[in-house]
Amino acid sequence: MAAASCSSVVLQGSLLATVGFSSSSRRLRALAKIELGDVTPHNIKQLKLLNQVVFPVSYNEKFYKDVLEAGELAKIAYYNDVVVGAVCCRVDTSENSRRLYIMTLGCLYAYRRLGVGSVMVKHVLDYVEKKGNFDSIFLHVQVNNEGAIDFYKKFGFEIVETKKYYYKRIEPADAHVLQKTLRTHNPPAAQ
Ligand SMILES: CC(C)(COP(=O)(O)OP(=O)(O)OC[C@H]1O[C@@H](n2cnc3c(N)ncnc32)[C@H](O)[C@@H]1OP(=O)(O)O)[C@@H](O)C(=O)NCCC(=O)NCCS
Repeated sequence: MAAASCSSVVLQGSLLATVGFSSSSRRLRALAKIELGDVTPHNIKQLKLLNQVVFPVSYNEKFYKDVLEAGELAKIAYYNDVVVGAVCCRVDTSENSRRLYIMTLGCLYAYRRLGVGSVMVKHVLDYVEKKGNFDSIFLHVQVNNEGAIDFYKKFGFEIVETKKYYYKRIEPADAHVLQKTLRTHNPPAAQ
């Protein structure tokens, strides 16, 4: 599939366009229909394939079993009806707080910078806002993943920690923890 920096890209469905991405990405965005759909037993294989292509880490059967039960916390992204991205989260109640953990959020390379990632993050932000009982949202990124770091910073995430040797089988092994704080716990007033 053509990379975003290449001169042409073919979009499936009724829209068939040959365009220079840099000059026409605004036009592509205007034409695009970006939608989120549920993860079901019918499309879980597509999610697995997508994650294999997008992430350097592989996810086990337990991950996908949990994703099938995750409801609004796992979504597949469609760009003009084509599967191009997915987001999978879980609730984390460690460290005395209630946090939403973004396990994976990714988009196929050829469909990046078209707003797909933003639609997925906004879905997560809407979810926590509606629930109203989360302290923060967090995730791990490889320290060299500058694109993802810039992307998340745009939504109010910040680097709060760097974990040495977080990843076992990929280089660099270090990860930043990106976090968006939603509310802070006020310690009980001293008597
Ligand atoms: C990070 C990722 C999800 C972004 O998805 P996307 O669909 O390209 O994001 P969007 O098009 O919604 O980008 C929104 C904004 O984020 C910022 N942004 C996104 N990618 C960026 C990059 N590579 N470099 C700098 N800024 C970037 C830009 O401000 C962008 O707005 P603009 O295109 O108008 O300048 C995508 O690059 C990806 O799938 N990466 C691989 C997986 C990954 O690393 N996931 C993060 C860990 S879970």
